[in-house]
Amino acid sequence: MIKKNVLLFIVLALCFLSCTKQNTEKHKVGFSQCISKDDYRKAMDYEMMVEASLHPELELTIFQANGDIEAQKSHIQFMINNDFDVIIISPAQSDPLVEIIETAFNKGIPIIIVDRKINTDKYTAFVGADNMEVGRNAGYFIASSSINNANVLEIRGSGNAFPKMGRHLGFHEVVDNEPNIKVPYSFDVEDFERVSQILDSIHKTPIDYVYAFNDNIAYDAWKVAKEKGVEKRINFIGVDGLSGLDNGIQLVQKGILAATILYPTGGDEAIKIAMKILQDETVLKENILNTTVIDYRNAKIMEKQYERINKHQIDIEKQQSVIRELENTYSTQSNILKWLAGLLIISILLAAYSIFSQYKLNKKKRTLELQNKKITVQRNQIKSIAKEVKKSNEAKTNFFTGLSHEFKTPITLILSSVESMFENKAIKETKLSRDVALIYNNSKRLLRLINQLLDFRKIEDRKFTLKASEVNLYEFSNHIFKDFEREAEKRNINFSLHANNKDLKIYLDRDLIDKVYFNLLSNAFKFTPNNGTISINIVDNPEKDTVNIHFKDSGIGIPNKELNSVFKAFYQGSNNNQSSSGIGLFLSKEFVELHKGALNVHSKHGTEFIVTLHKGSDHLKSEEIIYEPDMVDDSLIRYTDDVDYHEGNFTETETKDNEEHYSILIIEDNLDLVTYLKGKLAADYLVYTSDGTDAIDKALEHIPDIIVCDVNLPEKSGFDICKTLKNDLRTSHIPTIILTAQSSKESYIQGLQSGADLYLTKPFSYAILLQSIKSLLYNREKLRYYYINNIYRLDNSEDNFGPFEQNFISNINELIHNNLDNSNFSVEQLADELNISRIQLYRKMKAISGISISDYIQNIRLEKAKVLLNETTLTISEVAYATGFSSPSYFSTSFKNKYSKTPKAYRSNK
Ligand code: FRU
Repeated sequence: MIKKNVLLFIVLALCFLSCTKQNTEKHKVGFSQCISKDDYRKAMDYEMMVEASLHPELELTIFQANGDIEAQKSHIQFMINNDFDVIIISPAQSDPLVEIIETAFNKGIPIIIVDRKINTDKYTAFVGADNMEVGRNAGYFIASSSINNANVLEIRGSGNAFPKMGRHLGFHEVVDNEPNIKVPYSFDVEDFERVSQILDSIHKTPIDYVYAFNDNIAYDAWKVAKEKGVEKRINFIGVDGLSGLDNGIQLVQKGILAATILYPTGGDEAIKIAMKILQDETVLKENILNTTVIDYRNAKIMEKQYERINKHQIDIEKQQSVIRELENTYSTQSNILKWLAGLLIISILLAAYSIFSQYKLNKKKRTLELQNKKITVQRNQIKSIAKEVKKSNEAKTNFFTGLSHEFKTPITLILSSVESMFENKAIKETKLSRDVALIYNNSKRLLRLINQLLDFRKIEDRKFTLKASEVNLYEFSNHIFKDFEREAEKRNINFSLHANNKDLKIYLDRDLIDKVYFNLLSNAFKFTPNNGTISINIVDNPEKDTVNIHFKDSGIGIPNKELNSVFKAFYQGSNNNQSSSGIGLFLSKEFVELHKGALNVHSKHGTEFIVTLHKGSDHLKSEEIIYEPDMVDDSLIRYTDDVDYHEGNFTETETKDNEEHYSILIIEDNLDLVTYLKGKLAADYLVYTSDGTDAIDKALEHIPDIIVCDVNLPEKSGFDICKTLKNDLRTSHIPTIILTAQSSKESYIQGLQSGADLYLTKPFSYAILLQSIKSLLYNREKLRYYYINNIYRLDNSEDNFGPFEQNFISNINELIHNNLDNSNFSVEQLADELNISRIQLYRKMKAISGISISDYIQNIRLEKAKVLLNETTLTISEVAYATGFSSPSYFSTSFKNKYSKTPKAYRSNK
């Protein structure tokens, strides 16, 4: 609003400046000149212009009628029409112009009549000389200058104008009363040719004076007389008395005219009267100008007078031009000043506006700052509330996630115990087995729900990372297919698996796709009535880079309008009356999409889910591909309710305390789990246990053949314990299985970093744990076999040893070789040198090579002896001492025991 006003003001200021530039409107004065040819008229016009130039506020326009009365009328009409402020008229004749002059006068336009009068009194003012007086002056001049009789030739003016009449009457008024003055000839100028005839008869009728009504006529008459050589006999008298070349005054000076009667034009007077009228001053109606006789006595003075007037006139004009210039300069400067003043005002206004704006802005700024502060305070409050909410949410979620994890161990125990109960004959053959099956199946279901909940959390937190490995899709499917076969048989469901390419291998995360299979098949079995059909059809389209797996059932189907919703979390189908968590299909779709694949559903005569997966591995990131799928085995327990738990081989046996059995150290703080595992494993293994607080001590004390270690332990984490043991020469060789409820990528990596040999996530199947223990021990056994048979290359067997073992063997070998001929070099000495106890050395060596350390030393001595026997000529005794045997006989006995030949026989057989 204010901005608008300021702009308006600036525009107005600029308008004001441009308007004040020329705010004086000129008065329009028009002059209608009847005749324009002769000098008299020119003098009249000139006088008017000079006078008008003294009044800048007056604008004079002269209209020349050139003697045309109609033209003069139309000029007057034009001035009336164009609102002239004053009209000046020098009428050609007195009557024809009366009407138009009266019209103008009646309209209120001031009318000034110059020189010649008209036949009306409807004018504002008249200015001109008295023609009667002119005539009288001429008469007096003749009367005063003639002594004798005098004859006068009177040549009158033309037309009907008042001057002609006045000059004639005035003249006769004088001469008619003078008895010696006669006027034998009097005629109008139109009869000028009579002058010549009259002069021709001058001898008969002498002519002493010629009285002409203006100087021009008088001069013309003189010329005629001169032609006739009589000019000196006549006195010529004219009227007007103008200055300038061949005008009256000069003609008098030259002696051509005897006199001229001054007849002022009244031009300057007319303008003066006009100015008075315009300035609302009163003017006289009749303004009569003086007239006088100019003869040889005053002609010169008059001429001088006129010259001076003309000179003054020129000076005036010069001054006027200077004034005009000054006025222009003044006007320019005044305009500049006005502009500057205007600009100053604008600047002041703008400055004021800018100060005002600044003030407003500051005010607004302060308000905004205040608001900003308020918002910041509110934002911080919201932030802290959000933080608290997040914290509390996280705490809640962590609590539930932790709780879910915690559920896993007891459920594992329940499941394992129930598995054992199946094996118990006292239960197997009784009705209790149904109850046990019920407990088993519901425990499984509970576990499945917990796993689904944990998966849901992981999906929500985007914590899933694919661990895809290459698998044969048909075999993978068949494996799961078999899990459901029993259920199908029981319910007489036609359950089939078909693949058009049984060799097709694709990359998939076994655990996740296993869950997808289980989910889709569980759903199919849930909604398919007995005697129905369920099929898995793997369709490999060789032209496409995808494979489709169709899971089709003949169940109740899904209403079309619900098809889009079935994959939403916690969605319950309208025709699904069976209990369901509502996240199975949601998770399945997420899992398939993690593979960049798709899960779609159709429903027509049953339901069909189609899993689309990519072939090859281009769609996967390198970190999503794993090459050691056995390292992580999450799929040990599937969500199935229907696994064949009867296949387990669990028998209760007493704890063995026998040196021949492998020893196991179980590091676990859950007493139930320890008791359970101990009970199961004691049948075949020598079991040591630790709750985690003394794990390292126990491991060092017993140097077990294998360690099973939990992760969440009271003092040190399982990873730390594993790391310590793997970095200790005395225990570094012991295979270690890490048990944990965490199956995240991070814990998997932590497991690898700690040096664990196997990583099992809880809940684990006892069967799998047992098999894992067996596999690890078997592998260790294979290594031992290799060591025994390659005793010399122990220190070169880089492929089979860890860095600790390699170093250990190298050190032992070096020490033995350095003391080869020293029969006193003992196991104690060797242990001392290695900085470990004798028993630890014994166990370490036994563990990695399968033989005792003393046998190991002796084997090296004997192998060296073999070399010496082969390659040197040393005697048997010398060889015995060189290889550190205390006596040749002991050497021979030992050699024979090992190689079934005496050293002597060996050398001779060579
Ligand atoms: C010129 C003139 C003058 C004379 C006047 C009378 O036109 O004839 O010589 O004095 O007009 O109106």
